[in-house]
Amino acid sequence: HVIGIDLGTSAVKTVLVNRKGQVAYEASQSYPLHQPKAGYSEQHPEDWVRGTLASLKELVEKAGIGGTDAVDGISFSGQMHGLVLTDKEGQVLRPAILWNDTRTTAQCRRIEEQLGPKLLSIARNRALEGFTLPKLLWVQEHEPDVLARAAHFMLPKDYVRYRLTGQLAMEYSDAAGTLLLDVAQKQWSQEIAAAFELPLSLFPPLVESFDQTGTLLPEIAEQSELSPATKVYAGGADNACGAIGAGILSEGRTMCSIGTSGVVLSYEERKDIDVQGRAHFFNHSEQDAYYIMGVTLAAGYSLTWFKETFAPGLSFDALLEGVSSVEPGSSGLLFTPYIVGERTPHPDATIRGSFIGMDAGHGLVHFTRAVLEGITFSLKESIDILRGTGKTVKEVISIGGGARNEAWLQMQADIFDADIIKLESEQGPALGAAMLAAYGSGWFASLQACAEAFLREAARYSPNPEHVARYESLYELYRVVYPHTRELNG
Ligand code: XUL
Repeated sequence: HVIGIDLGTSAVKTVLVNRKGQVAYEASQSYPLHQPKAGYSEQHPEDWVRGTLASLKELVEKAGIGGTDAVDGISFSGQMHGLVLTDKEGQVLRPAILWNDTRTTAQCRRIEEQLGPKLLSIARNRALEGFTLPKLLWVQEHEPDVLARAAHFMLPKDYVRYRLTGQLAMEYSDAAGTLLLDVAQKQWSQEIAAAFELPLSLFPPLVESFDQTGTLLPEIAEQSELSPATKVYAGGADNACGAIGAGILSEGRTMCSIGTSGVVLSYEERKDIDVQGRAHFFNHSEQDAYYIMGVTLAAGYSLTWFKETFAPGLSFDALLEGVSSVEPGSSGLLFTPYIVGERTPHPDATIRGSFIGMDAGHGLVHFTRAVLEGITFSLKESIDILRGTGKTVKEVISIGGGARNEAWLQMQADIFDADIIKLESEQGPALGAAMLAAYGSGWFASLQACAEAFLREAARYSPNPEHVARYESLYELYRVVYPHTRELNG
């Protein structure tokens, strides 16, 4: 067996995966999120470690493999971008500042101004509040004594791995989300570090996602009932691991993942491809590969918000029942999902969403369908960015909540004008992490071979040409809502 650990924002999930790629057992532990001020979002790294160990112990006990050497390897998937600072004894210096913390607008502006076009040519991404460099600069400005005592900075899963193994390492897929990595050269950017007076000694050594980074420390092995000889592999960013778990491991593979936020992600082997900062460009967990990623901030969240606000008594299934009886276009009702701002293609945290075209004849089912369509239009804007690079997007693997409803799957096919594929058993980033351990342990000759053995297509939805045409004209209307309404809340 191998174990995948997915260190998320609300909980850590562990899965025990067998040689066929089946999740034999899983366990999870949640931990609190702290929002001491508006826009702040922090967690205590110690809570991650405690949660991970408790979850591992529960997993091992459920599977009845305590004290054996049944586990060949462990690897990680982690929430990206979060800043952990440790001193020279490895003690955490302040709570971790997370990816969804937005206190760093001023630092982002400074990064853009100071680096100019170099930011895109080296770090390949624009400065967004969520990324790590703005958080480091915030600490430098507001808590200079903390930064002065810092020996290293780490990302969330790297800190947990450090505590499990005693070894310090960061891998490329997560390092790419710091804005400090020279993404194409795969090394820390001395130029960016120097521009902000950050000593290179702060930066952990870089490794590949499938590289072994030690074994379990004796006290960790004892607490989790795993063998101290258990090998630990570096792991990847949650989006990279989600992509591995969906088989996005060769050119032409694209995924659409609809959770709280929505992600459109496409495998990329060209390191010089230029999306001009309109979407993220990160290193993949596959060696020397990359991915382009667009994010809709409120994807599933728009639907949750809508249900809780207007139909709190209904289950999601009940809410979505009947949406396929309404024609594409929701009888003239159009929704834009910017209810918490947007990322792709409008990196604008201040804009807000809208319902346009309301008619006295509309009922709950029209609004529900319009919400699904608006979320999917937003994701289509990311698909357009991919197509704008010359890529052919003919097939999209759909995962997450968006893959649980037939009407929504068909809608994705019709709006994206691509075949939508649903996978047989979908486990998300935790499975991707387990696959890194499986490959690292030598179970397969490549990650691709692992994906071929582990993943199976369950269903395929093909675009309906009439609906495609209808959606194309609605999409043109959808696209002008943002430029015409940004002043409303700005
Ligand atoms: C990616 C991002 C999120 C976090 C969530 O840029 O901010 O997907 O990785 O865990």
